[in-house]
Amino acid sequence: MDMNFSSDSSRQGNAVRRMFSEIAEHYDLINRLMTLGQDRVWRQCVIRTAGLPRNGILLDAGTGTGSIALDALNHAIELRVIGADFTTEMMAVGRQRVNGSRITWVAANALYLPFEDACFDAVTSGYLVRNVSDTCHAFQEQARVVKPGGRVVCLETSPPPQGLLRPVLLFFLNRVIPLLGQVVSGNRSAYTYLPQTTQHFFTPRKVSAIMRSAGLKNVRYQPFMFGTIAVHVGIRQ
Ligand SMILES: C[S@@+](CC[C@H](N)C(=O)[O-])C[C@H]1O[C@@H](n2cnc3c(N)ncnc32)[C@H](O)[C@@H]1O
Repeated sequence: MDMNFSSDSSRQGNAVRRMFSEIAEHYDLINRLMTLGQDRVWRQCVIRTAGLPRNGILLDAGTGTGSIALDALNHAIELRVIGADFTTEMMAVGRQRVNGSRITWVAANALYLPFEDACFDAVTSGYLVRNVSDTCHAFQEQARVVKPGGRVVCLETSPPPQGLLRPVLLFFLNRVIPLLGQVVSGNRSAYTYLPQTTQHFFTPRKVSAIMRSAGLKNVRYQPFMFGTIAVHVGIRQ
């Protein structure tokens, strides 16, 4: 594992890193359960949307246990895939997964990516940008390292939209997910934090505006799961 680590001095960054280090072991199982098995469909959408050339180079920022990175490799084994995250415990779990050793794991803060400008064909992220202290800056970094014409693709949760289903979705977020976290990982607080950040995160329209202000063009998004998940894409000019 490349340990070219940019330290994040912010208190928020340290708390986020500590939390993910505590849940690393059970992260994939709980993710599968709390997305009702749909996470794989959304990742496939991310990879299709990234429009990578077959032997291209992909950065998956906030890669965690590498789910998007590994699915990208399954999609095209010739790809070169870099997974970057500041929680080494998450990446250590990912390294043990099938094809985990084919990924280049880099310990790095998504707000200070240790890569040159314009060196990736696409940059993906999954559930990263609502955890960082400055969402716009995270997108600026991703836009900086992607080649002109390359895509920045973001899979993220969205606050439950207004409507008849909202009470059900809030119940799922505030009751079911913390319970699931407690039963499976023994860590209720982490699985209270995750739904709370979802409820307080930007709407998909606002995320689009942030991506544009980070310098990305042709920004659009596709909603999933009753509007609680969105895959955004923007192109670097
Ligand atoms: C919810 S997990 C998502 C993991 C993976 N992308 C997925 O789709 O399952 C969020 C990940 O973002 C990482 N993360 C959060 N803030 C970060 C930052 N500032 N720099 C690097 N990684 C960060 C966490 O360590 C964690 O592994």
